[in-house]
Amino acid sequence: MGPASLLFIALATTAPLLSAAQPYDYPTANISTLWTNNKASLPHSVSYPDGSAVRAIVLRSPQTFYGPSFAAGFFCAAPCDAFLFAVFILYTNSGAKITMPTTGIPQVVWSANRASPVRENATLELSSDGSLVLRDADGSLVWSSNTSGRSVAGMEITEMGNLVLSDLKNATVWQSFEHPTDALLPGQSLLEGMRLVPNTSATNWTENQLYMMTVLPDGLYAYVGSTPPQPYFSLSVSKNNTGNDPIMVTFTNGTLSVSVQSKEPNDSGTSIPLPAAKSTQYMRLESDGHLKLYEWSDAEATWGVVSDVIKLFPDDCAFPTVCGEYGLCTGGQCSCPLQNSSSSTYFKRVDERKPNLGCAPLTPISCQEMQHHQLLTLTDVSYFDISHTVANATNGEDCKQACFKNCSCSATIFRYGQNDSDGTCMWVTKVFSLQSIQPEIVHFNSSAYLKVQLSPSTSDSNANRKKVMLGATLGAITGIVLLVIAVTLYLYLRRKRKHQELDEELDFDQLPGMTMRYSFEKLRECTGDFSKKLGEGGFGTVFEGKIGEERVAVKRLEGARQGKKEFFAEVETIGSIEHINLVRLIGFCAEKSERLLVYEYMPRGSLDRWIYYRHNNAPLDWCTRYRIILDIAKGLCYLHEECRRIIAHLDIKPQNILLDDNFNAKVADFGLSKLIDRDQSKVMTMMRGTPGYLAPEWLTSQITEKVDVYSFGVVVMEVVCGRKNIDISLPEESVQLIKLLREKAQNDQLVDLIDNHSDDMVLHQEEAVQMMKLAIWCLQNDSSRRPSMSSVIKVLEGSMNIDSTIDCSSLEENLVMSVQLNKQFTYSVPPEASILSGPR
Ligand SMILES: *[C@@H]1O[C@H](CO)[C@@H](O)[C@H](O)[C@H]1NC(C)=O
Ligand SMILES: *[C@@H]1O[C@H](CO)[C@@H](O)[C@H](O)[C@H]1NC(C)=O
Ligand SMILES: *[C@@H]1O[C@H](CO)[C@@H](O)[C@H](O)[C@H]1NC(C)=O
Ligand SMILES: *[C@@H]1O[C@H](CO)[C@@H](O)[C@H](O)[C@H]1NC(C)=O
Ligand SMILES: *[C@@H]1O[C@H](CO)[C@@H](O)[C@H](O)[C@H]1NC(C)=O
Ligand SMILES: *[C@@H]1O[C@H](CO)[C@@H](O)[C@H](O)[C@H]1NC(C)=O
Ligand SMILES: *[C@@H]1O[C@H](CO)[C@@H](O)[C@H](O)[C@H]1NC(C)=O
Ligand SMILES: *[C@@H]1O[C@H](CO)[C@@H](O)[C@H](O)[C@H]1NC(C)=O
Ligand SMILES: *[C@@H]1O[C@H](CO)[C@@H](O)[C@H](O)[C@H]1NC(C)=O
Ligand SMILES: *[C@@H]1O[C@H](CO)[C@@H](O)[C@H](O)[C@H]1NC(C)=O
Ligand SMILES: *[C@@H]1O[C@H](CO)[C@@H](O)[C@H](O)[C@H]1NC(C)=O
Ligand SMILES: *[C@@H]1O[C@H](CO)[C@@H](O)[C@H](O)[C@H]1NC(C)=O
Repeated sequence: MGPASLLFIALATTAPLLSAAQPYDYPTANISTLWTNNKASLPHSVSYPDGSAVRAIVLRSPQTFYGPSFAAGFFCAAPCDAFLFAVFILYTNSGAKITMPTTGIPQVVWSANRASPVRENATLELSSDGSLVLRDADGSLVWSSNTSGRSVAGMEITEMGNLVLSDLKNATVWQSFEHPTDALLPGQSLLEGMRLVPNTSATNWTENQLYMMTVLPDGLYAYVGSTPPQPYFSLSVSKNNTGNDPIMVTFTNGTLSVSVQSKEPNDSGTSIPLPAAKSTQYMRLESDGHLKLYEWSDAEATWGVVSDVIKLFPDDCAFPTVCGEYGLCTGGQCSCPLQNSSSSTYFKRVDERKPNLGCAPLTPISCQEMQHHQLLTLTDVSYFDISHTVANATNGEDCKQACFKNCSCSATIFRYGQNDSDGTCMWVTKVFSLQSIQPEIVHFNSSAYLKVQLSPSTSDSNANRKKVMLGATLGAITGIVLLVIAVTLYLYLRRKRKHQELDEELDFDQLPGMTMRYSFEKLRECTGDFSKKLGEGGFGTVFEGKIGEERVAVKRLEGARQGKKEFFAEVETIGSIEHINLVRLIGFCAEKSERLLVYEYMPRGSLDRWIYYRHNNAPLDWCTRYRIILDIAKGLCYLHEECRRIIAHLDIKPQNILLDDNFNAKVADFGLSKLIDRDQSKVMTMMRGTPGYLAPEWLTSQITEKVDVYSFGVVVMEVVCGRKNIDISLPEESVQLIKLLREKAQNDQLVDLIDNHSDDMVLHQEEAVQMMKLAIWCLQNDSSRRPSMSSVIKVLEGSMNIDSTIDCSSLEENLVMSVQLNKQFTYSVPPEASILSGPR
C-alpha cells in the first residue's frame, strides 16, 4: 500500500469525526477566543482505555505522514473528574485525527494548573488584552500567563511542542518552555533557577514535595527533600567557567548537556550521552527521583523508556528512596537496619509486604529525651549524600560524638580510605535509603551511625530488674539482714511497678505489631488542636493531622469509659495485622481518660461519599466500582481466612470503606470486631453493627464471620446501584433495595437497578448484572449457603462461577429483619450510620 492509498484511508475515516468547524491542522489561535471544557464545545475529544481523555484546543499535525504530534488543551486521567490545561503528545494521522487510542496514550509534557485541576465547563480564554487565562467552571481564576498589555497577537503550538504567545512582530512574549513542570522536550533548555518537580502520582499532579532538579550557578543538581535538601546527583559545568557566566542545561537529540550560555552548547560543557532519537522523545523526572527518557516506538506503536538518564555510583541502590526511609539496599533488596552482633531491633518495616517502602524507628527520636539516644553502628554501609561534612571529625568515634551533640542530626556517615583515623564525617537530618557496599569494589570504607531512641520504660524496667538481682546476690552472701532488705526492696519495687501498671490499665508495651505510642500532647499538636474534622466514625470523631511528613487521621474516642473495650480490641487487632486493603493503624495514645488511634490518611474519604451522590462527586465508572468491590473482598478475605484467628469485622458498610488517591479501597474501623477461635465456629456476642447491613442470624445471636459476607452483599448492591440500601426519601415501593432486588431477580429485570447516573455503567450492564447475582449469593438467608470471601474473589477474578442453585426468594426474611430494626430506631431523616453503630 503506497502513501497515497494510506492518505485516502486516513481522510475517509477521519471525515465523520471532525466537525465542519474543526480544521485538520490547527496549531494557532487568535486573541479574543474562549474555549469551554466540554465535549460539545471541543469536538476534538478522545477517551483512552486507561481512563484518560484529551480535548485539544491547538494541535500541530506531524510533518511526517502520521505520528506523534503536539497539542495543547484539556487533559484528564481516570476517573476523569479533574482536568489540566496541558501540552501533550498524541498520535495522529495526516488528517490530524487522533488515532491509536489503545496504545498512543497521551503523554503530558507541560501543564498550567498542576496543583489546582479544573472541572468540566472550565474555560480557557486568550483574552483581547493578550492574556491566556484559565478559569474554573464557577468562574474563579485558576491560572494566567499574566501577559496582558504586551501586544500578544496569538498563540501557537510549535513543532517542538512549545506553547508560545507571540506579539504582532512575531516575537515571543511567553512560552511554556520557560515554565517547565516535570518534563523536557528535545531543544528545551533549563536556565539557572528553573526546576523540574515530579508529580505526586499519576492522578494527583500536585508537586511531589520530595524530589527536585534544578540549575545552580555551577551545574545541574537533583535533590531529595529534607532540611537542608540532600543532593543525590549533579552534573557540573567544566571548571573553566570562571567568569560567572550564566549556564544552561539543554536536552537535544543525543545529549543532556550543561554549558555556558554565551558559548556553543558543546563547548566547555559536560554532558550525558543519550540514545539517538528514532522518533519523538521526552524526558521526565519521576516521583522516585529517576530521570527517564521516553520514546515513541513506531514498531510497537507505543511509548517506552529508552534510558534511565541518571546513573548513580555504584548502582541504583544509591537512589534516595529506593528502599524508603531507613531502608538498607543490598543488591537491590531492601531490609531494615540491624545492629551487628546484637539481637535488638530498633526498626520495623513500614509495610511488611512492601519492603521498599522503608523502615520506621520503633520509638521516634525525641529531643526532650536526649539522654536515651543511642547510635546504631552499621559497617560497610554508605549513603548517597556526602555534602554536609562535620569539621574536625576525622575518626569514627568523633563522628559518632558529633551526632550525639546535635538533636537535628539523625545519622552520621564516616568514610575513609586506608587509614581509619583520616576520614570524612558526614551528617544528615533525615535518613533516606542506605546502601550496603563492598569496600574492595568501591575503594573506600564506610560506616553509618544511626540515631535511635531507647524508650525510657524499657531502660527503667531493666534497671529495676538489675537492682533486684543485685540485692538478692548480696543478701545470699552477707546474711539474713541483707537478704531481708533485698526481699523488702524486691517487694517494694514489684508493688511500685504494679501500681504503675494499674495507672496504665494495660501494659501497652506488650501489644503486638509494634504500633507506635504517642503522647496526647503530640497528637493535639499534630492535629492543630483537633481543628480539622474529617468525620465521625463509630465511637468518636476523626481529625486530620500530620506526623512528620505523613498525613494521618486521628480518631479521638468519645466517652473513653464506654469505648475502652473497643479501643483495646481495635489496637490489638489492627496493630498486629497489615494488608493493602485494610486501613493501617500507625499508633495510639492512652492517657488518663483520653483514647486516640492514629491511622493512615485516606485522601478520598469513605465510599458512601462516592456512591450516594450527596457530595457532588462525579459517578464512578464501572471499572472503579469493580476494583473497589474486589479490594473490599480481599480485605475481608484476609481477616477471615489468612490471619491466625478468624477476625469478623461485624460492621461492614460504605462508611467503613475508605479510598486512597487512586480509589484503592481499604476496610476501616475494627472497633466492633470480635475474634473468633477457629475451632469454635460460632460465638455468642452482643448484637452490634448497623441496621440495613445486618444478617438474619443476628436474631439468634449465633454469628460467624459469614455476617460480613452478608453485609458485603449489601455493599455490593449499593455500589452497583448507586444508592443506599434503605432510602426513605424514595417512593415507598423503592425504599428497600434488597426487596427490589428480590422482585427484579425473580422477573429477570436486574438491569433496571443499575446506577443510571453513569453512562459507563450502562455500557457494562452485563457485568453489573453478574455482580448483582454475586450479591444475591452473599445475601442468602442461610449463612452456610453464602460463599466464603475467597470464593467471592475467585468469582470476581473469573476463575469460578456463581453457585447456580442460589435462591432469590430467600432474600425475603432478611428484609423483615431490616424493617423491624428500622422501626426500633424511629427517625424522620436517614440516620448517620455511625450514630446507630455505637455500642448497644
Ligand atoms: C487569525 O487571524 C488571522 C488574520 O485575521 C486569520 O487569517 C486567521 O485565519 C485567524 N486564525 C484563526 C485560527 O482563527
Ligand atoms: C456544561 O455546560 C453545558 C452547556 O452549558 C451544560 O449542558 C452541562 O450540563 C454543563 N456540565 C456540567 C458538568 O456542569
Ligand atoms: C500571574 O500573576 C498573579 C498575581 O500577580 C500570580 O499570583 C500568578 O502566579 C502569576 N502567574 C504566572 C503564571 O506567573
Ligand atoms: C513566527 O516565527 C516562527 C519562528 O520563530 C516562524 O516559524 C513562523 O512562521 C513566524 N510566523 C509568522 C506569521 O511570521
Ligand atoms: C505523573 O507522573 C506519573 C509517573 O511519574 C506519570 O505516569 C503521569 O503521566 C504523570 N501525570 C501527569 C499529568 O504528568
Ligand atoms: C495530592 O498530594 C499532595 C501531597 O503531595 C496532597 O497534599 C494533596 O492532598 C493530594 N491531593 C489529593 C486530591 O489527594
Ligand atoms: C559544536 O557544534 C557545532 C555544530 O554542531 C560545530 O560546528 C562545532 O565545531 C562544535 N564545537 C566544538 C568545540 O566541538
Ligand atoms: C579549560 O581549562 C584547561 C586548563 O585550565 C585548558 O587546558 C582547556 O583548554 C580549557 N578548555 C576550554 C574549552 O577552554
Ligand atoms: C537524532 O540523531 C540521529 C543521528 O545522530 C539521527 O539519525 C536521527 O534521525 C535524529 N533523530 C531525530 C528525531 O531527529
Ligand atoms: C558485622 O557483620 C558483618 C557481616 O555479618 C561482619 O563481616 C562484620 O565483621 C561485623 N562487624 C562487627 C563490628 O561486628
Ligand atoms: C576544629 O578544631 C579547631 C582547632 O583544633 C578549633 O579551633 C575549632 O573550634 C574546631 N571546630 C569545631 C567545630 O569543633
Ligand atoms: C544543629 O545543627 C543544625 C544544622 O547544622 C544547626 O542549624 C543547629 O544550630 C545545631 N544545633 C545545635 C544545638 O548545635
